Amino acid sequence: MTNFSEIPDLDAGQFQRFAKLIHEKAHIHLKDHKITLLSNRLRKRLRALSLGSYDEYFKYINDEATAQKEMVHFLEAVTTNESYFWRTTQNFEALKKHVLPELVKEHRGSKLKLWSAGCSTGEEPYNLAIEIVESMKSLGHFEWDLLGSDISTRVVDFARAGIYSGRKIERIPENILRRYFRKLEDQDAYQVRQDLREKIHFDVENLFEAMHPGLHCIFCRNVMIYFNRTDQEKLVNRFHEMLVKGGYLFIGHAESLQMLHTPFSTRPTEEGVLYQKTSQ
Ligand SMILES: C[S@@+](CC[C@H](N)C(=O)[O-])C[C@H]1O[C@@H](n2cnc3c(N)ncnc32)[C@H](O)[C@@H]1O
Repeated sequence: MTNFSEIPDLDAGQFQRFAKLIHEKAHIHLKDHKITLLSNRLRKRLRALSLGSYDEYFKYINDEATAQKEMVHFLEAVTTNESYFWRTTQNFEALKKHVLPELVKEHRGSKLKLWSAGCSTGEEPYNLAIEIVESMKSLGHFEWDLLGSDISTRVVDFARAGIYSGRKIERIPENILRRYFRKLEDQDAYQVRQDLREKIHFDVENLFEAMHPGLHCIFCRNVMIYFNRTDQEKLVNRFHEMLVKGGYLFIGHAESLQMLHTPFSTRPTEEGVLYQKTSQ
């Protein structure tokens, strides 16, 4: 019987083959030093499928009979899905202070359309939804639509359920937790209010294939760090195409568009730089 923990790390050639496949399927660029990380993650798939080597697994994931089903697990294994509520709150502050007041005024009477692109387990879109509802206290009622999507089926299922505990919710202010979540009986976990869960549309999709025209805001935070520069540029240009004139793109605090050729205009604010589409 195979002792899976004794299977050594991928060799350089095997790593390159898997890295190429990951890039083809998700555009994720794995640097060479991720060899141990990838080995550990794939070892779990070998164990689950009782396969004795990475080469067998590579065949399995490329075999017409098994590829489609296994790809779901493969993508789950190779993506990094860390997320939590109240992450980089400057983005939400800027949204409430500058972006929503402007968009609501400009587009009065029409629905604001927002997208959390690479939403992982759902904290970002729910956080956005809470900020939108809260902002109506000062801006008055407006119609809105929010899509959360990710390439990993597992995280999208998790997001739909909307149940969180521990570190994921520890930064949420007490009054917000009480207002927008309900504590689950006999569990140390909270579920997002049903009306908010029903309001957000969740989907499994690859960012490089998705096309959602007519958006007012895109949140794509802590996702582009996994792509190479060419793909980042491609994606940011796709985002530009999908936004209405005057729409905004939010990226993570460790990310920047500075080194990329993009048509976005920058607008400095106290809460950080805003990226806005100002031309068609
Ligand atoms: C670190 S999480 C970021 C979650 C959230 N945006 C945040 O900032 O908390 C990155 C997410 O991007 C997703 N992702 C990576 N490549 C993708 C692709 N090509 N299409 C869609 N989602 C992708 C991963 O599955 C993962 O859930």
